[in-house]
Amino acid sequence: MTSVQTQPAAAETTKPGPLLAVADLAVSFATADGNVQAVDGLSLTIHPRQTFALVGESGCGKSVTALAILQLIPQPPGRIERGSILLDGRDLLRLSEKQMLKVRGKDIAMIFQEPTTSLNPVYTVGDQIVEAILLHQDVNNKEAAEIAIAAMHEVGIPNPKQRLRAYPHQFSGGMRQRVMIAMALACQPKLLLADEPTTALDVTIQAQILELLKKLKRERGMAVMLITHDLGVVAENADVVCVMYAGRVVEYANVFDLFAKSHHPYTRGLLASIPKLGETKHRLTTVDTVVNDPQEYKKLPEYHKGVVPWWPTLPPPDDVAPSSGGDAYVLHEIAPNHWVGCWRTAYVAQHPSPRPDIAFRRDARPGVAR
Ligand SMILES: Nc1ncnc2c1ncn2[C@@H]1O[C@H](COP(=O)(O)OP(=O)(O)OP(=O)(O)O)[C@@H](O)[C@H]1O
Ligand SMILES: [Mg+2]
Repeated sequence: MTSVQTQPAAAETTKPGPLLAVADLAVSFATADGNVQAVDGLSLTIHPRQTFALVGESGCGKSVTALAILQLIPQPPGRIERGSILLDGRDLLRLSEKQMLKVRGKDIAMIFQEPTTSLNPVYTVGDQIVEAILLHQDVNNKEAAEIAIAAMHEVGIPNPKQRLRAYPHQFSGGMRQRVMIAMALACQPKLLLADEPTTALDVTIQAQILELLKKLKRERGMAVMLITHDLGVVAENADVVCVMYAGRVVEYANVFDLFAKSHHPYTRGLLASIPKLGETKHRLTTVDTVVNDPQEYKKLPEYHKGVVPWWPTLPPPDDVAPSSGGDAYVLHEIAPNHWVGCWRTAYVAQHPSPRPDIAFRRDARPGVAR
C-alpha cells in the first residue's frame, strides 16, 4: 500500500498501517438492461479508530462497496471484476466462504441499510444476538445470553433481560436499530460498516445513535465506515470523507479539507445545495447548476497544466490518455492528502499519484479530549 507522505498539521503523527485497504475495486451486475457498473476503480483506506464517511447520491455504489468488503455481493448477477480488499494485509477477495464466515461479525460487522436484512421476524431478538455470538465466540449458551444482555444494555435498551424474549416487531424503529447495533457489536469487531444507520430515525434518536457509535468507537478502538447522504452527519462525525459518483471516487480528503477546500464541482454542488440558516435565496442552488457550469472545472489547481476534474456527462479533454486498461479516469492527488477524480490527461498520466490513504483522526488532534 502506498503511504501517506505529509500529514496535515492537525493529523496524528504516529501512523500505524491501515486496517482496511481497498484498491481498484470494480463490481458490476448483469441485468436485463445490460451491465451495470456499480463500482468502478474504487480505492480507500480505513485506519484503526477512524470514522470514514462514504457519501454520494442514491445508486452511486455505497452499499455495493460495503457488501463487497464483506463478500456479500450475490454472484450472479454481481461480479467482482478486479481489485483487492486487504484487512490487516489479508486479501478478503481471496478467502473461501468458510474463511469469510469467520471474518463476518468477528472482524467486520455491518449494520444494514434495510433492517429487515439483519433481523428475522420469526425469531426473538435474544435468539438472534445469541446466535451471532455463538458463531464467533467460544462460549456456551448461558455465557452468550449474558454477553447479549450486556450488549443490549450497552446500546441503551432498557430491561435487556426481558427484551431478549421479544420479537423484532415489538421494538420501535429506534430500538430495532439499537438491537442491530448490539448484534453487530456483541462480537467486538475491528471495523463496523454502518450503512445509513440513522436515515429512518427521527433527529433525536439519530443523534443518540451517533453518540452511541462514538462512545463505542472510543471505548473499543473500533473503526467505522459510515455510509450516509447526510452531510450534516458527515461534518459532525467523520475523520475522512470519500465522495462517490457513478461508482467512482470524485473527491477524497480529511473532513476539514473537504468542507473548507472542496475541489471537485460535484462536491461543491453538494455543499452548496444544503440550505443554510439565515440565508435568503430566491432559489436553492442545485448540484446540477454547479456541475454543469464549465467555469467550475477551471477552478481546480493545476487546471492550466491540464488537470481537469472527471465528470461522466462531459466530453473528455483533447489530450486524454486512457490507461492500457482503457480507463480515462484517475484519482489525482491535487494537494497533499487531497484526491480528486480527474481525466487521465497527458499531464496527469505523467504525474501519477499514490492511492488515497489518510490516517487523520479529528480526536487525535493536539488539545482534543479523547
Ligand atoms: N443485486 C443487484 N442487481 C442489480 N443491480 C444492482 C444490485 N445491487 C445494486 N445494484 C446496482 O448497483 C448500483 C449501486 O447500488 P448501491 O446499492 O450501492 O447504491 P447506494 O449508493 O447504496 O444508493 P442508496 O443511497 O440509494 O442506498 C445501482 O445502480 C444499483 O441499481
Ligand atoms: Mg445503499
